Amino acid sequence: NIETKVDSVLSLMTLKEKVGQLVQYNGSWDLTGPASELDSKQKETNLKNGLVGSMLNVLSVDATREAQKLIVDNSRMKIPLIFGYDVIHGYKTIFPVPLGETASWDLEAMELSARIAAIESVAEGINWTFSPMIDVSRDARWGRIMEGSGEDPYLTSVVGVAKIKGYQGDDLSNQLTIAATAKHFAGYGFAEAGRDYNTVHLGENELHNTILPPFKAAAEAGVATFMNSFNEIDGIPSTGNKYLQRDILKGEWDWKGFMVSDWGSITEMIYHGFAKDKKQASQIAINAGSDMDMEGGAYESSLEELVIEGTVDIAMVDDAVRRVLRVKFKLGLFEDPYKYSNPEVKKNISYEEHRKAAREIAAKSIVLLKNEQELLPIKTSVKTIAVIGPLANDKDAPIGNWRAQGEANSAVSVVEGIKNAVGKNTKVNYSLGTSLGTSERAFLLPLEINKTDRSGFKEAIDLAKNSELVVMVLGEDAFQAGEGRSQAKIGLAGLQQELLEEIKKVNSNIVLVLINGRPMEISWASENLPAIVVAWQLGTESGNAIADVLFGKYNPSGKLPVSFPRLVGQEPLYYNQKNTGRPSNDQHVTYSHYTDVKKDALYPFGYGLSYTQFEYGDVSLSGVEMNSEKDLEASITIKNTGKVKGREVVQLYLQDIIGSRTRPVKELKGFQLIDLEPGETKTVSFKITKKMLEFYTANRIWEAEVGDFNIFVGGNSKELKAAEFTFKN
Ligand code: IFM
Repeated sequence: NIETKVDSVLSLMTLKEKVGQLVQYNGSWDLTGPASELDSKQKETNLKNGLVGSMLNVLSVDATREAQKLIVDNSRMKIPLIFGYDVIHGYKTIFPVPLGETASWDLEAMELSARIAAIESVAEGINWTFSPMIDVSRDARWGRIMEGSGEDPYLTSVVGVAKIKGYQGDDLSNQLTIAATAKHFAGYGFAEAGRDYNTVHLGENELHNTILPPFKAAAEAGVATFMNSFNEIDGIPSTGNKYLQRDILKGEWDWKGFMVSDWGSITEMIYHGFAKDKKQASQIAINAGSDMDMEGGAYESSLEELVIEGTVDIAMVDDAVRRVLRVKFKLGLFEDPYKYSNPEVKKNISYEEHRKAAREIAAKSIVLLKNEQELLPIKTSVKTIAVIGPLANDKDAPIGNWRAQGEANSAVSVVEGIKNAVGKNTKVNYSLGTSLGTSERAFLLPLEINKTDRSGFKEAIDLAKNSELVVMVLGEDAFQAGEGRSQAKIGLAGLQQELLEEIKKVNSNIVLVLINGRPMEISWASENLPAIVVAWQLGTESGNAIADVLFGKYNPSGKLPVSFPRLVGQEPLYYNQKNTGRPSNDQHVTYSHYTDVKKDALYPFGYGLSYTQFEYGDVSLSGVEMNSEKDLEASITIKNTGKVKGREVVQLYLQDIIGSRTRPVKELKGFQLIDLEPGETKTVSFKITKKMLEFYTANRIWEAEVGDFNIFVGGNSKELKAAEFTFKN
């Protein structure tokens, strides 16, 4: 049994070796982060002496073998390294960015993309990914919103669990599975004003009812590791937060994996003004339950001394080491340290099959926001299509940020996808029109450039004038969303908006295709254009998937996992808000609203159109009362009233009308995907259980409170059929 083995290894280790297990080095000696001061020679020596537990960013079977060999051939204890990497949306075959993929609401497809990412990772020696990111994020300004599942805790939870299953499978020791990481614990997505790394102000209610549920679900799903977050909450940096890490995660939830710090986040407690030096930062972090120091050099330089002088109890170190060893045993690394550095794995991979899966999920992730005059799907009678815009023939933006080993410029562009899809008699012409107005890949500020070059406008306008249909492809560059890429503006950068308006003057048959990593401000487009497609950053097969939707090979079924605002000033914006004491009165100023813009979303959470229409019947309940012993069943019929087959995401929301803490106006509690032929009707049933009514109450426990509830079912968070019931204990 693993616990006995862990104990026996631990009992043989020196203090120095124990601390070594809690040290993680970056693989490329040329450091990008602010932390370590050690040179490469010293690092190699430390590896040989078994004073390192893990490395990140060591890529390839050969490189991981070489590093592993330093330990296995030279160190006393021969404890294998675990190799981590940010495999966020694919390793080589790139899938949609997580926010985009979540728009599919297709948990099986998301599990599959994680499985494929795991297999491709193992083929390059990686056995641990820093994914999924399950930070609920409600602010489109925050660049890392692209990396999560959006604004809803329930959706984030179930997607997180699907990804964990995909990466880890049922058995971590299987050579084709890798350890996953639930990150960033906790509250990182609530950075004030959407500015990355910024302070988080989070009360107890929001922490427990919004932020923590996805992490609890991940812990219950057996995620191997957690990563803590850069931010502080209420004055306590998460890395030094004992309440979060020891009391809740390792205590109340009884989770047995290990916590890796974020890059240098232990040392960053000095800058937070929470520790005076690395030594104090180490003391705080280990006591708080941060087990492994990612490239921070803090544990390495001071943990041994802290134990010797008695400031840190050895039990804290033992607990951390035990957790790291446990994961290594589960991965099977003690039996074979080279298990995940096996060149045979790559030989058996069909990258073609992986691309096929990538195209399918990419198509499922696309959200159709508007489709007037049935402009879409594009009819075969259309003989001239102009594909215009800086992203129309761009092969890089769809690969997105955090692309692992996805090659630059390797995506199928929209122009290519459309050309692949049309028959010989349709002419597809392309014009750039303008540049993006951002300096892609730049790591130095400012990022916005080139606001004045209109030299491409004329060609684009002439092309639009002489075409039956215009597909405008606009949005964000590959690195505009992601870590450190917060923006105070979320509209179209550079001259894109101006180009769009000029094109509209000569041809109003425009389909706007957005390539984006975050919700964007598209109010003008929404008011003035007949068709809008949100295509996110869809990965390797982007252009083909977009063409599948544009030409109706795939009938769009994606639904927004995050609200699209009318104006950036509405951010943070989310559907599951509170009512406030002054919810609504459009006639009067002294109610909660803006005087210059409507307060609701332009396109709400859960929204997305299809090429067919779905008609919802009324919600019928199996009773009007429920209790701990008696569940309720809610049923609703949905009819496909259009002309083509379609898929609908049927969404269930509940509202706890009165609570010991105020409750959101509605909360997603379930959903089902159904496929309907034209004219077909299906009845969808949801079981309403006591568990679904529970929340972190004023008693500081999770419980269901007696009282009245609203139940809502529909195809988005706004247009819903309602019923009521009462919960009696
Ligand atoms: O996994 C990431 C994390 O999300 C942000 N900081 C760096 C880590 C490792 O690359």
